[in-house]
Amino acid sequence: MIERLKELEEQSEADLSQIVDAGALEALRIKWLGRKGLIAEIMQGMKDASPEDRPKIGQGANKLKNTINEAIEAKKAEFDSQSALKPERTIDFSLPGRRPNKGHLHLITQVTNECVQIFSDLGYQVAEGPDIETEYYNFDSLNTPADHPARDSHDTFYVKPGYVLRTHTSPVQMRTMELHQPPVAVIVPGRVYRVDFDASHSPMFNQIEGLLVDQNITFGDLKGTVEHFIDAFFGKNVKSRFRPHFFPFTEPSAEVDISCSVCEGSGCRLCKQSGWIEIMGCGMVDPEVFKFANYDYDKYSGFAFGMGIDRMALLRHSVNTIHHLFENDLRFLEQF
Ligand code: DAH
Repeated sequence: MIERLKELEEQSEADLSQIVDAGALEALRIKWLGRKGLIAEIMQGMKDASPEDRPKIGQGANKLKNTINEAIEAKKAEFDSQSALKPERTIDFSLPGRRPNKGHLHLITQVTNECVQIFSDLGYQVAEGPDIETEYYNFDSLNTPADHPARDSHDTFYVKPGYVLRTHTSPVQMRTMELHQPPVAVIVPGRVYRVDFDASHSPMFNQIEGLLVDQNITFGDLKGTVEHFIDAFFGKNVKSRFRPHFFPFTEPSAEVDISCSVCEGSGCRLCKQSGWIEIMGCGMVDPEVFKFANYDYDKYSGFAFGMGIDRMALLRHSVNTIHHLFENDLRFLEQF
């Protein structure tokens, strides 16, 4: 028995030196310390040993057991600290993943797309122009001479002599007419700029311009088109009216009001107690503008309109300050 004990002591050292991972360590624990393990075998064998050998065997077996126990604990600690250093070992692949935040189209883009769709369905095509525009396209060619109040530097951002940040999307009317002969039917969404800042004005805002030129186009066509648009966008319950107005590039000109969507016409702060809210300017293209485009103004007539998209988005959702649209506060934007 004493010899067997010696043998086992040597074997235990060899076994311990071969442990490479936690799995092998557990196998070794079972082999040595398990219920049917080698230590148990010795303990059981003690009853066959001579009485004087028994204490020695008992002590030796206990010592071996403790040595192996300590060695196992030490290895275990070593493996634990190694796996803490290797993070890939601690990844729990069963955990649900972290989802990236899902974005969506900005309210202005949504409303723009909706307006464009309504006009696309009528056969209009989308046209675009530059944000930095020449004074010629922004003003002169739209029959807005140099002494017109709209050219006052208080309204217009001048970039350098001859160039401005476009104050409206109307210059794209002229750019389109220069490139295409009638019939022309375009819709122009875009950013525009004015020196203006208060609760309802932002120095950058959005417009949609429309232009239709063909033979025999009348104010009746303009009214029908605008009313169709209002029905499609705001719903049939919303009333509209045309109010005479002046624009240098249309004659006659009008502004279009819709019944206030907040108070439904009875009067509130949004509509300044009038029951009506202005949403666009429009009119029949002035023959002077056709001259700049080299269009035959005896043969062709047309209408144009321009509306503020931001205002329409606000109206639709009863939001009162335009600045919410541009401050990029996700708590606001996520609602739409
Ligand atoms: N450009 C005008 C503005 O920004 C709006 C406008 C009025 C556009 C009449 C038009 C139009 O095309 O015919 O105030």
